[in-house]
Amino acid sequence: MRKHGTQLFLGLLGALLLASTAFAGGDVAAGEQKAAVCASCHGATGESIAPDYPVLAGQHQSYLEHALKAYRSGARNNPIMAAFVATLSDEDIADLSAYFAAQEGLFTLKR
Ligand code: HEC
Repeated sequence: MRKHGTQLFLGLLGALLLASTAFAGGDVAAGEQKAAVCASCHGATGESIAPDYPVLAGQHQSYLEHALKAYRSGARNNPIMAAFVATLSDEDIADLSAYFAAQEGLFTLKR
């Protein structure tokens, strides 16, 4: 009886975690399409092509969203990135962030 309760609790906890992930928003597949324009610097999967360009692969989705919105508002001032985010909607930013966060990056490499 007690064991059953624990399983039920863990099941509910899992469902909650899944729900909260979905709530974060952002469509990975849509993000992949939109990321084509970013590839010349950040690489197709966010593994940047040179040290001048930050690695985006595996970065937290919320951090990527925060950074992109900061470039868009001008709070974070970088002429290169400002040009690339100027026309992005909130949805574009969520999709792009979901895509790069879903890639294997420096922090998730397990080899
Ligand atoms: C012409 C090269 C270039 C292109 C194309 C480009 N970026 Fe960047 N990006 C940069 C540079 C340079 C920086 C570092 C700027 C700084 O110091 O703030 C940067 C920074 C960022 C950061 C902040 C990373 C961090 O760790 O704080 C994000 C997020 C980002 N770019 C996303 C994108 C996305 C999404 C696109 C496509 C829509 C894109 N970039 C296109 C050059 C580029």
